[in-house]
Amino acid sequence: MNNVPILLQALRGAAKTPPPIWLMRQAGRYLPEYMAERQKFPDFMEFCFNSDVVTKVTLQPIERFDFDAAIIFSDILTIPHFLGQTVKFEKGHGPILAKVDWTDFLKNSEQKDLSNDYQPLFQSITDVKNALPSDKALIGFAGSPWTIGTYMIGGGKSKGFSEIVKFAETQSQTFKGILDLLTDQVIKLLLGQIKAGCDVVQIFDSWAAAVPVQQREEWLWSPLRKIYKAIKTVYPETPIIYYGKGISLDYPALIPDLPGVCFGLDQSVDVKWANSAIQKFAPVQGNLDPEKLVMGDFQKDVQNILENLSVGPFVFNLGHGILPETPIPHVHQLIELVKGWKS
Ligand code: CP3
Repeated sequence: MNNVPILLQALRGAAKTPPPIWLMRQAGRYLPEYMAERQKFPDFMEFCFNSDVVTKVTLQPIERFDFDAAIIFSDILTIPHFLGQTVKFEKGHGPILAKVDWTDFLKNSEQKDLSNDYQPLFQSITDVKNALPSDKALIGFAGSPWTIGTYMIGGGKSKGFSEIVKFAETQSQTFKGILDLLTDQVIKLLLGQIKAGCDVVQIFDSWAAAVPVQQREEWLWSPLRKIYKAIKTVYPETPIIYYGKGISLDYPALIPDLPGVCFGLDQSVDVKWANSAIQKFAPVQGNLDPEKLVMGDFQKDVQNILENLSVGPFVFNLGHGILPETPIPHVHQLIELVKGWKS
């Protein structure tokens, strides 16, 4: 059988009843089978670059839940890691990135080709693609230049974003160098992932809302348009999902420059508004509150989402990544609800 995956159908503009479903961060710590693999690797980056283990943990949520798509297991911080900024993950602390001298760092990073470093990831993509049934899609991803940059500049453990915004405004040439470098590397990484077998790519812009409104054109949209153009030039048929957390009010103005892009909606977005302001012109994805999935009281919200958004091109997902404390039976219940939906 050679079915077009339902995720691709929705991303190309079809309204599907029921819609496709996958969950951001679906491979991860809420799964005991993930923890069993993770325990074997003290170093998270080593875990991310072991081809066999990446293939295995990418497929785990598909085997357990039969989601409509797999997302390749990796992390948005692999780019700084390979550019030479030490990235450490410590239990309970999140990522910690080493301080660097930006003048030296930018000089050393110029035109760096990371394709060899990414070979194990590309190998896993090819292996996952071969193992997936033909009706399931494989998603590749990268962070947005801004969101990756917040970790690189803030060292990962900054309490807020005011220091990073201040750095960007006071050291604007250096900051522009960092954004340009990251834009270039994000493009190369996404092109490499598509070449290796990804059907779709998602750009995670989890900290987009920290950018002051008057800086968004330069720090967010200009890099995003560059990434969009570079991908569409080589792979015009590959759908792109842009997940900008906390900035969906900006989406309507972006649509004309990014035709075909699917917009990720976080849990704060009103779905009625999203239908009239965004979905009339572009596919959307989202937006169940991940806390609701933990608590188990999500039936009403799911119904509201489906009533308002399954009328157009729509991908069911959470408003942000699934939380490690999410009970597995709740995920099964969610999928049953969505897959049982009749308009
Ligand atoms: O979606 C998937 O299943 C694919 C895997 C994936 C990971 N990270 C694995 C991971 C994806 C898509 C990401 C993206 C990512 N990484 C983002 C954007 C999405 C979001 O949630 O906002 C961000 C901001 C990061 C950076 C990052 N990586 C942080 C802040 C942390 C530690 C804190 C946390 O969320 O747990 C990581 C580590 C990480 N990346 C883990 C996983 C499963 C947990 C580490 C572990 O297993 O010990």
